[in-house]
This record gives sequence, structure tokens and C-alpha cells, in this order.
Amino acid sequence: MQVRRIAGALGAEIQGVDLGQLLTPEISTSIRNLLNEHEVLFFRGQTMEPAQQRDLASIFGPLQTHPAYGTVEGIPEVMILESTAENPSKIEVWHSDMTFRQHPPSVTVLRGMVIPNVGGDTLFASMTSAYDALSEGMKSYLEGLSAVHDFAQGFRESLAEPGGRERLAGALADNPPVRHPVIQTHPETGKKVLFVNALFTTHIEGIPALESSALLNFLYQHAALPEHTCRFQWTPDSVVLWDNRSTQHKPVNDFLPAPRCLHRVVSEGDQPY
Ligand code: SIN
Repeated sequence: MQVRRIAGALGAEIQGVDLGQLLTPEISTSIRNLLNEHEVLFFRGQTMEPAQQRDLASIFGPLQTHPAYGTVEGIPEVMILESTAENPSKIEVWHSDMTFRQHPPSVTVLRGMVIPNVGGDTLFASMTSAYDALSEGMKSYLEGLSAVHDFAQGFRESLAEPGGRERLAGALADNPPVRHPVIQTHPETGKKVLFVNALFTTHIEGIPALESSALLNFLYQHAALPEHTCRFQWTPDSVVLWDNRSTQHKPVNDFLPAPRCLHRVVSEGDQPY
């Protein structure tokens, strides 16, 4: 495998591996190690079927399904993230996937299916880099704090649509708000990461509401500073793997009215938070 780092904080483009093949334990371990080192990995020219994408994600541990997204027929682990002129993407902000779960995914595998000619890049940010760049005073203030993450906040636009609350009633009932420490220690690298995001985090517990919202706004701005980020320009058959515990991402919704479609599979990982 050839590895080319693409930015200072995170991200590497990998060549010389066919992810559609059943990966040997050695290659699987190498990919896990590369993910720990670079946090997000980009692979181009990867042809595979949805079942192969599912099998690829399963090398990282048990797979999770999503309560709201459509899925590939017969393969409920493969979510379809589709944006069209009639039904544009509602995900506009930086986030980690599914932090409304008690055990959010450890690894996400995203595959480009329909890619606009221009636009529709995905931005990534390293929450390791963001944590490291905080002042010592801020690090110790945040250390003991927990934040609440809520499915209902992340999917509020869908819930507000006509019939949305009825359609998502089961998802709401199955996903009550959960708490996560604001600072977490990555179970594999031992590095500290910042773990709040603008999509699902509602507030920090145990501090006044104004202090919580001001602090979260500061942390979101800090986490998205360009020096913590990298940017991926999709091509059809690209596959991106990211560590969902140590990164955030944000699609750039600048491609409408062109359609864009990605397939996503998430793994809880062997060592969930
Ligand atoms: C996601 O939020 O998991 C998808 C990111 C993207 O659409 O680029």
C-alpha cells in the first residue's frame, strides 16, 4: 500500500489495495493502524457491490443500522444518503455520525455512487488536533463535563416535515437523549479527543444554559479551524473510511440541482466508547 498524507492534521490517500476483495487479517490490521494514524483514509477507483461494502466495514467490528435513512434492498446495513433538487440533504453542519447512540459508530465507510461534476466535497476535521490546540485551562475545565446528544435535534427538520413525527415515531422512541463525556480518550490510540458536535449535541450538563451554548459555540468554531481540517473531492467509486471517534465531517452542499448519492456503512468497532 502507498500512503500519501494530504494535510497537516489528518487524512491520507491510499493506493495499492482492492477493498472489494476479502481482506486478509494482515491488510485489515494495516488499515486499522493507518486509520489510527491518519484518522481518515481516501481510496479511489474501488468497484464493489453493496454487500462487499458491508463486509469491508465489518472488519472493524459489529455493524449498526440507522433508524431514519433508507437502505439498500436486502442489506439493511447499507444506508443510502441521497440529495436531489426535490429532496436536498438536510445535513449541513459539522458532526460525527450517530452520536445520539450510547455507543456511536467507531468507523464509517462511505462510498461515492452518484457524484456531481462540480461540488459536493466532504470536509473532515481532527478532534485530536482540536483538543491538542486548546489551552491547558480549557482542557482541565472540560475534563469532567458531559454533554447531551439527541436524535431529535439532529433530525429536527425531518421531524418538522408533514408526517415527519409519525414517520420517525419509532426512531424517536428508540433513541432518547444520551450523555457522553466532552473529552474522551480514544480506546486504541490513547489520545484525547473533543467529543461534541453541532448536529446532535444539545447542551453541556451541570452548567448554566448561556454558559453551555457559548462554550459549545466556541468549541464548534475552534474544531472547524482550517488547520484541523482536510477536504476530499469525490470521484465515482471513491471510498472513504474515517474514525468516527476522533473526527467530524461536513458535506459541502454546493452542487444542487445536480443529484448526489453515497452509500454508508457504520461499525461499532471492537472497542466502543
Ligand atoms: C455523512 O454525514 O455521513 C455523509 C457525508 C457526506 O455526505 O459527504
